[in-house]
Amino acid sequence: MLKVPDHVKKIIPYVPGKPIDELERELGVLGSIKLASNENPLGPSPLAIEAVKTVLPMVNLYPDGGGHYLKSALSGLLGVGMENIVLGQGSNELLDIAVRTFLSPGDETVMADPSFIVYYNSSAKAGGSPIKVALTADHRHDLKAMSGHICEKTKIVFIANPNNPTGTIVSSDEFGEFMDSVPEHVAIIVDEAYHEYVTDRSYPDTMKYFMREAPVRNILILRTFSKIYGLAGLRIGYGIASGGIVREMDKVREPFNTSSVAQAAAVAALRDVDHLDKSLALNEEGKKFLYGALSDLASDTSIEYVPTQGNFIYVDLKRDAVKVYDKLLRKGIIVRPMGKTAIRVTIGLKIENEAFIRSLKEVLIDGHNSFEAECHTEGNRQHNKKT
Ligand SMILES: Cc1ncc(COP(=O)(O)O)c(C=O)c1O
Repeated sequence: MLKVPDHVKKIIPYVPGKPIDELERELGVLGSIKLASNENPLGPSPLAIEAVKTVLPMVNLYPDGGGHYLKSALSGLLGVGMENIVLGQGSNELLDIAVRTFLSPGDETVMADPSFIVYYNSSAKAGGSPIKVALTADHRHDLKAMSGHICEKTKIVFIANPNNPTGTIVSSDEFGEFMDSVPEHVAIIVDEAYHEYVTDRSYPDTMKYFMREAPVRNILILRTFSKIYGLAGLRIGYGIASGGIVREMDKVREPFNTSSVAQAAAVAALRDVDHLDKSLALNEEGKKFLYGALSDLASDTSIEYVPTQGNFIYVDLKRDAVKVYDKLLRKGIIVRPMGKTAIRVTIGLKIENEAFIRSLKEVLIDGHNSFEAECHTEGNRQHNKKT
């Protein structure tokens, strides 16, 4: 009989944000709003769209596997050598490549919980043992505890900064202390998918650690064009690391992993500072509105939100999140349930944020009685079972 190996069985299926047309097909809900995947609500940069059009007539040709123009643009922008840049189909693929580069079956990786699920799955896929370390009570990485889980078998520590789903950051001091404690056989992957959104001044400049010679230089910084650059559908991201790390990762990646279309769009997007500024300003404005509206709702419902450094907000609803998620879906609002009682909502356009708050209010306050009723039914069911 064909047997699926245990390390594959261990993988938790990745559940992406529900696409708008799927909601239409499944529930017949038209004109819904997707606030589930932390995409840029302004769309891609107009310069990127133009660049895509220019490249399309040449897609009969394989792309430049080395991504010369994109690496050159990034190198100029970041002040690092082109040999320090590795390209991938989003940071997702780079995480996978990094794990396949550094991990042997039986090795361990350390990550926060909850954090981005791909860290766990990439490690499991490679036959490794992922170790999850709970966030602190205020939803932040517990770097001291994570450091305490490093042993000879540990090959990678993942740090999402800002963290998905909580939007919290590791501070410069915390990161510095952690880096000084990491032994030389461990690679530190800092996933900075949302770094362009960060406004907190205590956010660490990880490039400093990449530049330094000692004590540990095994740092891989991951960034993406999927978030503020609005190119999630094209699948492109990059990593910054020492030439040695990049050379090994280049051996593991597919030779043509990033398309010519994605590379051209990314080069153009980097030039479009105006689009970047507008995206950031929109996020700040939306954040302020949502903080206010969620605080108002909190006084009636006891929900709690976590202040974010990303383009999404983690809201603990203090009640069954999947039920709320389902009810929001039926109102045409797609968010992401997180664990038992929380949801993560992307900061959208003004009109989308307002629609989300309106619907959430209806579900939590107007639907309050139906929640009570469902609780009682569940309680009765338990009671009936016992008796
Ligand atoms: C923390 C984090 N890292 C990486 C990614 C992956 O992004 P992509 O593969 O689109 O670059 C995401 C996407 O949601 C994310 O939240």
